[in-house]
Amino acid sequence: MEFEHTSVMPQQVHDYQNLTPGDVCVDCTLGGSGHALSTVRAIVPGGTLIGIDQDNDAIANAEKRLHSFKDNVRLFHNNFSDLPDILAQNGIKGVDSILLDLGFSLNQLTQSKRGFSFQKNEPLDMRMDVRNPLTAEEMVNTYTEKQLADIFFTYGEERFSRRVARVIAMTRTDAPIKTSGELAKLVASAIPSKVSAKQKIHPATRVFQALRIAVNQELERLEAFMKAVPDMLNIGGRISIISFHSLEDRIVKQRLRKFQDGCTCPKALPRCLCGFVQRMKVITRKPVIATPEETAANPMARSAKLRVAERI
Ligand SMILES: C[S@@+](CC[C@H](N)C(=O)[O-])C[C@H]1O[C@@H](n2cnc3c(N)ncnc32)[C@H](O)[C@@H]1O
Repeated sequence: MEFEHTSVMPQQVHDYQNLTPGDVCVDCTLGGSGHALSTVRAIVPGGTLIGIDQDNDAIANAEKRLHSFKDNVRLFHNNFSDLPDILAQNGIKGVDSILLDLGFSLNQLTQSKRGFSFQKNEPLDMRMDVRNPLTAEEMVNTYTEKQLADIFFTYGEERFSRRVARVIAMTRTDAPIKTSGELAKLVASAIPSKVSAKQKIHPATRVFQALRIAVNQELERLEAFMKAVPDMLNIGGRISIISFHSLEDRIVKQRLRKFQDGCTCPKALPRCLCGFVQRMKVITRKPVIATPEETAANPMARSAKLRVAERI
């Protein structure tokens, strides 16, 4: 399978990564390997790129796309929350750069046939890692109406979460909902037409996002990963994270802030007594966003936010 090569904010990521030959780097979300390729080019000769993706298609693509740097690249079909173990098992004490470009790849959306897109009629799967047992189909057909409404509300910020869950619960009593096309139509039918007519996005956008996040446990994995960041970076090493919606960005922002300023002592105390030690410095005071030229060429870049922090 050939990947389409669309990396978000390639120049900004490259500039912030601040790489030099010999560095040890991690790309936690290989996807189409666009960022990975520019990373490995910047660290040869002598450097090592550890590339991770939970989707085996991305690993297969990386093997091809990064082939000419194969002596400098090690690939792992894992969740990025496994990174502390991967580093320990490979005897790596610290790295100089970590990149996360969150969410799904263009390939997953357009080629994977796993039901990520409401514009296609494909099996309702949505697993990025097909070794995991839970699919979107199982979730939609077996979770209670209340569980579904909570997922749509929490992970999709869908105002009509209860109505959507109701329509799903009623429909599945006749026959299970099996495809992305069926689900997209059901969701559209549950949202008042006056409201959807005014929205710029497809009425199923939020519900599809919510299901994908739930199926892949995206926020839990990100939380677990973020906690371990300072322990994995060398002094001066940087983490760069691109997020695509406010739920991800909030986790990243709050965790980086805690590393920078996590002292819990009352302001009135003359000195810190809680034992907080600052281990990270945030480099991007505000999130970096794509240029108008990039968003015009690649609509996926519209919602991207890049945050960078450095281990001190
Ligand atoms: C936006 S794409 C990355 C695009 C890539 N930076 C490029 O230049 O082509 C996101 C990728 O991250 C992977 N991914 C998302 N969450 C993951 C996780 N928790 N662990 C490992 N891979 C993950 C997805 O499978 C997908 O391939």
